[in-house]
Amino acid sequence: AGLSAACRPEARGAAPAAPAPGGPDTGFTDDLRIPPLAPSTIDPDGARRFDLGLRADGRSAFLPGRTTPTWGIDGDYLGPTVRVRTGERVRMTVTSALPERTSMHWHGMLLPARMDGGPHQPIEPGATWRPEWTIRQPAATLWYHPHAHGSTAVHVHRGLAGLLYVDDPGRAGLPDRYGVDDIPLILQDRSFTPDGAFVEDGVDSGTYGLLGDTMLVNGVHRPRLRLGVRTVRLRILNAANARVFHVGLADDRPFRVIGTDAGPLDRAVETTRVRLSPGERAEIVLTLAAGERVTLDSRGPADGTEPETGAFPLLLIEVATGAEPAAALPETPGPAPEPFRDTGVVRRFRLDQLDINGRRGDPARIDEVVPAGAHETWEITNGPYAHSFHIHGAHFRVLATEGAAAGPKDTVFVPPGASLRLAVRFGTDTDPATPYMYHCHLLRHEDGGMSGQFVVVPPGTERQVSRSLPGHH
Ligand code: C2O
Ligand code: CU
Repeated sequence: AGLSAACRPEARGAAPAAPAPGGPDTGFTDDLRIPPLAPSTIDPDGARRFDLGLRADGRSAFLPGRTTPTWGIDGDYLGPTVRVRTGERVRMTVTSALPERTSMHWHGMLLPARMDGGPHQPIEPGATWRPEWTIRQPAATLWYHPHAHGSTAVHVHRGLAGLLYVDDPGRAGLPDRYGVDDIPLILQDRSFTPDGAFVEDGVDSGTYGLLGDTMLVNGVHRPRLRLGVRTVRLRILNAANARVFHVGLADDRPFRVIGTDAGPLDRAVETTRVRLSPGERAEIVLTLAAGERVTLDSRGPADGTEPETGAFPLLLIEVATGAEPAAALPETPGPAPEPFRDTGVVRRFRLDQLDINGRRGDPARIDEVVPAGAHETWEITNGPYAHSFHIHGAHFRVLATEGAAAGPKDTVFVPPGASLRLAVRFGTDTDPATPYMYHCHLLRHEDGGMSGQFVVVPPGTERQVSRSLPGHH
């Protein structure tokens, strides 16, 4: 297998023999790799078709002089960026050349449960899975990754993840030239063995799972991004297994947040740092000076309250001296949120070390039954460990928050001891026999059973639903 252009050893110059994690700001010699856009074709019925191939034979060069065996989607590591549009029909074919069972989940997508790609839609070695659905949600930066029962952490860690953009043809005004002024940043952390292999995220990886000592952005350690524009939109995904990133600029200058997990904010929010726990996304806009160099870094508390260890640089941004002038941005990146039609339903979820409401996830058990299109309040209370709470097939707002934290979400960081109230809006697709999941997005926690399942059913049929699924015992 070939190495991707940005990962070729000869592209590395006289870099040190080993990374200096947390050390001085060395590196920044390799160009940021921009994931290719996934090609698509239009089927005779008008559906947009993508073909994704999962591979276990990748070879990547993250560190000088060392080759890392990796997994990838249509490439050696990570996957192409898939772009779909609000209103269109999408048809995926996902073919696995992996040596073991996996699945492919469309994180943040509102779609029928059978298309969701969770543990109930496994893809066996050599098999092809063909989900299809219609995009019925606003513009957003989503992502896709495996979600097989008990092996999500390892499959994502080896390299299976990619971005999934929803574009809304009805909205314009934000930088949207992919790789030019609209830049994806997939944040991950990894550790390496002396011969260059990944240290895997295993059962002995600690309370939260593996916290790597080497930061990767789009699969490149300490990359450099050369910009020909002064106004840039960064779409940032935390695709790490456990690490929380606190993203900002090294000089702490303010920037604008224009979107969160599930879509745009209705008002841009100025801030100096965004916290992203695993699975969360943010879209930010920077306006820079021609010729300037700034470092994007992560700096968070090192007080043990988070799966986080201090400060480290992520990316050097260099703006060309002849860069395009700064662009004006809309004050309202997105429409005002639709009103929350509170149905008065409150569900309570008590998180502990690996339990939700005192039990571990069971693929055969339905924990909650939700009527289609419901608006419900979910109350999350947390014990002594940090978690990242994600709900499939639904979007929510975190109540009693302000600024970017009040934006549309599908995943939220839950600090130790915290209580959060979520105003959750469920999708309208019904299937009493196929569950969606909610779970911790720290992937060792997810694999360890920190999850639950719900089905979405036609309103009025909630009581007819069986709480256990056939074929699972
Ligand atoms: Cu990003 Cu249930 O997953
Ligand atoms: Cu957790």
